[in-house]
Amino acid sequence: MRTRLLRDPDEAAAVLRRGGLCVVPTETVYGLAARADDPDAVAAVFRAKGRPSDNPLIVHLADAAQADAVAHVTETGRGLLAAFAPGPLTVVLPARPGLPSAVTAGLGTVAIRVPSAPLVLAVLGGTGPLVAPSANRSGRPSPTTWQAARDDLDGRVDAVLRGPPTEVGIESTVVDATGPVPLVLRPGAVTLDALRALFPDARAIGDGDEVGRRSPGTQHRHYAPRARVRVVDDVRQWAPGPDAAWIGLSEPPPGYALVAVCPDVAHYARRLFDTFRRADAAGLSRIDAEAVPPVGLGLAVMDRLRRAAEG
Ligand code: TXA
Ligand code: MG
Repeated sequence: MRTRLLRDPDEAAAVLRRGGLCVVPTETVYGLAARADDPDAVAAVFRAKGRPSDNPLIVHLADAAQADAVAHVTETGRGLLAAFAPGPLTVVLPARPGLPSAVTAGLGTVAIRVPSAPLVLAVLGGTGPLVAPSANRSGRPSPTTWQAARDDLDGRVDAVLRGPPTEVGIESTVVDATGPVPLVLRPGAVTLDALRALFPDARAIGDGDEVGRRSPGTQHRHYAPRARVRVVDDVRQWAPGPDAAWIGLSEPPPGYALVAVCPDVAHYARRLFDTFRRADAAGLSRIDAEAVPPVGLGLAVMDRLRRAAEG
């Protein structure tokens, strides 16, 4: 299949309405979109990504009012959507029947998200609800540029809608809102503190929680570049070399082949996956990533770093 490069969201919407696959820019990472109501299109998303079938997809909506069509919106869900939609938040709710079973992986819940990036909203304005996992091949870092998405999916999808590099750089916060207390399954730019301003008991999933409640995707190998990622929290671990990249808030010693010094944690999040991919493109064997305090957006950065280091 030849993958078309598009600039016009109306053309992307037309591809999607016909049941095709199209990469779209969101504010978090690029997504691989398809009609949420079309079992064949949904199946094609899993094939194009090489995604395990037990990992459900997020349904993207043009606005929060559409949530009731696909989910039983709980009081918790209602509150979260009112406060954070559109934006980098995904809410897990009891599913209404009718969606292709591959969307929910048969879990009985559905993840929904109202993105805020203008291009994806323009696409959603010309389609119905769209599934959109991150537009990477399974196991690779999420793409934050259209070029990174094309590198992974060229020849496997109908089109790529070109947009700017993504604003946030890491995937949305996934929150289980099936019960009275929001439970963060995947940390992101909507922070625990922000959630607690509304729901003081909101918490992040932890070791004490039964595995069944976790986000299935967090059990798969994830976010991993080919280069080995080392999380570095002490200057004595700094090890510059011609085969190594550095990303962090601090200026590293000279000798790293690739350096990303970030002025703050938001820039760190924005540049993280791109730095992973640049290191791989340069054939580097190691990425030293400086640890940050696991608070606010730092919690999400550390989550991605730990997963990449395990991968
Ligand atoms: O920022 C994002 O969320 C991006 C953009 C494109 O919107 N999308 C994204 O999708 O990251 P994906 O498929 O790469 O990650 C979705 C995560 C996975 O960890 C998946 O297991 C989880 O959401 N998820 C989806 N449906 C779920 C459900 N019903 N219950 C629990 N977790 C769910
Ligand atoms: Mg993903």
